[in-house]
Amino acid sequence: MNDTIPATVIKIGGSTLGAQDTSLQDVVELHRQGQRPVVVHGGGAMISDWLKRLEIESHFVDGLRSTSAPAMEVVLGVLRGVVNTQLVAEIIALGGRAVGLSGVDGAIVQGEQYDERLGFVGRITAANADILNSLLDAGVIPVIAPIALEAPSQPLNINADTMAGEIARALGAAQLIFLTDVDGLMDGTGAVVDSLNAERAEALRAEGVLSGGMIPKIDACFRAAEVGVAAFIANGTQPHTVHRLVSGERIGTRIEA
Ligand SMILES: Nc1ncnc2c1ncn2[C@@H]1O[C@H](COP(=O)(O)OP(=O)(O)OP(=O)(O)O)[C@@H](O)[C@H]1O
Ligand SMILES: [Mg+2]
Repeated sequence: MNDTIPATVIKIGGSTLGAQDTSLQDVVELHRQGQRPVVVHGGGAMISDWLKRLEIESHFVDGLRSTSAPAMEVVLGVLRGVVNTQLVAEIIALGGRAVGLSGVDGAIVQGEQYDERLGFVGRITAANADILNSLLDAGVIPVIAPIALEAPSQPLNINADTMAGEIARALGAAQLIFLTDVDGLMDGTGAVVDSLNAERAEALRAEGVLSGGMIPKIDACFRAAEVGVAAFIANGTQPHTVHRLVSGERIGTRIEA
């Protein structure tokens, strides 16, 4: 059809949000150079904070936040309202043309509930990149909150790493970059693993070295790598991590398909 430049999906961790990092500067710069960045963000810490303030009970099941109907309203309000709007505003302030959306908009990402204990937490059943490609064609930087649509009309809470992985897959992105608050995936000695294949990932998982927030990241990396996306995990709190990665510098953890 056309020889469009492939997208670069950048997942900004809630853990690095507001940390005065240079990630958004890098995103705008990348866009200015003619690349097609897409931002997916988390926001778990802010959700926890708001649930506490509103005195809404929530607990974790296997690392995922069990999401009741009232908690889902908070998830929507915080992710799609506060965090997404803030990121869009910051990108615009930096001179980029950002548009905020979630997987519900245009039914870009569809999901289903899969575990009673988790309530309105979803797994992704389909992702359609058409609308994102139209936005990219129009020179827009899409900023996506991790919420999916369960037909006919129920929004679901999706892990942001999973969301980023599925969006990178659907877009046929060139790169998927997870920005987090550590230098990459660390092994049992605390050293950053610079290159990770599936075998090594399974070994680290079996050793219990891979835990918490790293698990969905690694899973999403391999899901995306399967279809040829180059996936990375790197420290978003360090200056110009995105710029350095797209320039080919070897920092953080690179996933080998
Ligand atoms: N083997 C490992 N190597 C590195 N970090 C690990 C490892 N196992 C668990 N972690 C944890 O994973 C965390 C990063 O994931 P976390 O979910 O907390 O942040 P995030 O995904 O960047 O932000 P958010 O979930 O808000 O979007 C690290 O801070 C670290 O504590
Ligand atoms: Mg996380």
